[in-house]
Amino acid sequence: MRLSRLGLVPVVVVMLGGNLGAAQTPGPATPAEVRQFTMTARRYQFDPSVITVKKGQLVRLIITAADRNHGFKLEEFGINQLLKKNQPAIIEFTASKAGTFIFRCSEFCGLGHAKMKGKLVVEE
Ligand code: CUA
Repeated sequence: MRLSRLGLVPVVVVMLGGNLGAAQTPGPATPAEVRQFTMTARRYQFDPSVITVKKGQLVRLIITAADRNHGFKLEEFGINQLLKKNQPAIIEFTASKAGTFIFRCSEFCGLGHAKMKGKLVVEE
């Protein structure tokens, strides 16, 4: 009697171990929900200068100013970020409304500063 009860113990341990292993298996992330763009800012343009996403998507921009400080201003989404030379800035926002929105440089960078801009297209 006593021996057979002891014999059950290792079986239970093995089953628990199996369950823990299953719980730790990483599930798939949801990268489809995030639209990520790597962008460069230099006199006097953003590259790419047109970004197209779908309404509701989380947008992540990684922008590096290549030649001097610039800025990134997307007024409709309340974004105004200084881009320091060679320091990638990460900007995240949800494309909560459809339309075409102009983003522009918000740090004076020379004679072409006022013309340094691009376009965010949010599709319905
Ligand atoms: Cu770039 Cu102002």
